[in-house]
Amino acid sequence: MRKGQSLVSIEELERTDIESLLDTAARMQENRSAYAGLLTHSILATLFFEPSTRTRLSFESAMARLGGHIISAPNASEMSSAVKGETLADTIRMVSGYADVIALRHPRVGASAEAAEVSRVPVLNAGDGAGEHPTQAILDAYAIVRRHGSLDGLTVAALGDLAYGRTIHSLALLLAKFEAVTLRTVAPRGLELPKDLATAVREQGLRLEAADSLVDAVRGADVLYVTRLQKERLPAHVATSPGLYAVDHAALDALPASAMILHPLPRVDELPTWVDGDPRASYIEQAHGGVYVRMACLAAVLGASL
Ligand code: NCD
Repeated sequence: MRKGQSLVSIEELERTDIESLLDTAARMQENRSAYAGLLTHSILATLFFEPSTRTRLSFESAMARLGGHIISAPNASEMSSAVKGETLADTIRMVSGYADVIALRHPRVGASAEAAEVSRVPVLNAGDGAGEHPTQAILDAYAIVRRHGSLDGLTVAALGDLAYGRTIHSLALLLAKFEAVTLRTVAPRGLELPKDLATAVREQGLRLEAADSLVDAVRGADVLYVTRLQKERLPAHVATSPGLYAVDHAALDALPASAMILHPLPRVDELPTWVDGDPRASYIEQAHGGVYVRMACLAAVLGASL
C-alpha cells in the first residue's frame, strides 16, 4: 500500500500488499515500543455512522500506540452535521482538512468510495453497509497466518449471513488472492454469498463450494469462520428467526483439532459461549490482532518509514 492510498475494497490490494501489511503487523506486535513514535503529529479522524466497538477502538488504539492523535465522531449519524442535512461528501471535505487519515463506517454500500473520491487524505473503509470491511479481512488473515503459517492451500468454512455480512465479502476477495484456497459456505436460504461476488472470486481462482450442512463444511477445514445475522440490514422478505443457525457439538466434533474458530464479533446466538472453552476458539486473539493490523495500515497510508 502506498502513501496517500485509500482502502475501500480488498480488490485494490495485491497479494504482496497484504503480505507486507501482515509482516509489518507481526513486527509491530513483537516489538511494539519500537514504533511508539512512528506517527507523532499525525491525526486520525474516526467517523462512524453505525455502531462499533472493536473497529473504532482498535483504530484509535492503533493510532495512539504509534504516537499519533485522534479526533472522533463515534456517533456521527446523530451528533454530526449529517443531522442538519449535510451530505457525506461535504462532511468528508471538512474532515479531510482536520486530519491526515479518516476511518469511515457508514450504512450505505459505496459510501467509502464516495468519500475517497472527495477526500484530500486517505479514507479507510471501516464498513460500508453490506459492502466491504477490508481491514477486518486483513486482521482475519493475520489471525489465520499466525496459526497456520500461510493462507495458501487452506480450507475455510464460512457459516452465517453471507449475503449481508460485509466481513465475509472482503475475506472472500482476500482469500482469492492466494493459491489453492477453498471457501466452503453454509448459509440459510436467501443469505448466500452474493452471486456477483461468487462469480468474481471464482474467476480469481478461489474454490468456492456450497455445503449442505455445517458438519459437511467443517470436515477437513483449517478455519471455521462464523458470522452473525445482520438483522439491521435484512430486507423484510428474508425470513429471520433467532436460532436460524449456530455452531453445535456435532460441528465441533467434525472440525479438525488443528483448526481454528474465528468470528468478526459481535456474536449473538450463532456462537454459544460454551464454545469459548474449546482450544480452537480464537476470536478474542483475532480481535486483539486488529490493533497491529490497523497500525500497519495507518503507517502504510501515512507513508511512515519502517
Ligand atoms: C463486523 C461489522 O461491523 O461488519 N464487526 C466488526 O467490525 N468486527 C461484524 C458484524 O457486525 O457482524
